[in-house]
Amino acid sequence: MARVLVTGTSTGLGLGALHDLIEAGAQVVAHVRRAEQLETVARSLGTEVPGVVGELADQAQVRGVAEQVAALGGVDAIIHSAGTMDERLVLPVNVVAPYLLTALVPAKRHVYLSSGMHRGGRLTASQLAGLNWTVGGSLVSYSDSKLLVTALAAAVGRLRPGTWANAVDPGWVPTRMGGAGAPDDLEAGHRTQAWLALGKDPRTHTSAYWHHMHTQQPDRRTGDVNFQDQLLAALERATGTRLE
Ligand SMILES: NC(=O)c1ccc[n+]([C@@H]2O[C@H](COP(=O)([O-])OP(=O)(O)OC[C@H]3O[C@@H](n4cnc5c(N)ncnc54)[C@H](OP(=O)(O)O)[C@@H]3O)[C@@H](O)[C@H]2O)c1
Repeated sequence: MARVLVTGTSTGLGLGALHDLIEAGAQVVAHVRRAEQLETVARSLGTEVPGVVGELADQAQVRGVAEQVAALGGVDAIIHSAGTMDERLVLPVNVVAPYLLTALVPAKRHVYLSSGMHRGGRLTASQLAGLNWTVGGSLVSYSDSKLLVTALAAAVGRLRPGTWANAVDPGWVPTRMGGAGAPDDLEAGHRTQAWLALGKDPRTHTSAYWHHMHTQQPDRRTGDVNFQDQLLAALERATGTRLE
């Protein structure tokens, strides 16, 4: 049975995906920012699960998360769910952390949380080299960060044959981030991630952009090889780590 790391499991879509995975009989590794949050996760799940801890805005702590995952014996899949809308943090948390975890944690399946808002991102390929990826460095929009992580997913799918790298638009759902009035269905918002991470359905053996278990066309920049290569080069410079 698959073993899946989920980031950002203290609440919201990450916690929902953990529920789905456990219900499906999968083994899980729950990432949280602070160790005490693992108690809340265990209470919500009704069972204790192995956990890893780290602040994802801090590259050293992201590396620590990768080491903790290795010490637990590794995983087959990662759901990169942790995310923020704080413009000082969107580059390090929504883009650099998934990049580093992809580079440092061997896994056959990656699921990246995108958003329909990625289409509103304004960054062009030529701007990527000039970005400062540290906390408060370059203030880009949430939409820009989701454009970049969607391009990252497409690049991983292209460069790692046999690895399924999928991006998911979960809809606008009522989590802490989405707000109580969000119109979409919360369950549907996390079901696709768990399904892709488990990889049992042959339909999931692909690298694509998904919404509620159906593929969609993302913004065309995400499939542009030059855009992807500029992104990977910038992230390699920002982290000192190459994505092989
Ligand atoms: N909700 C929506 O409508 C919606 C729509 C489209 C896409 N998304 C995407 O879906 C993903 C999950 O969103 P959500 O609605 O579940 O958000 P949420 O309820 O705000 O939960 C975010 C999770 O990420 C963790 N996190 C945030 N910043 C972190 C950091 N610097 N270090 C470590 N952990 C951090 C949070 O931990 P703490 O509790 O410690 O802060 C929490 O577990 C995000 O990537 C989001 O962009 C959401």
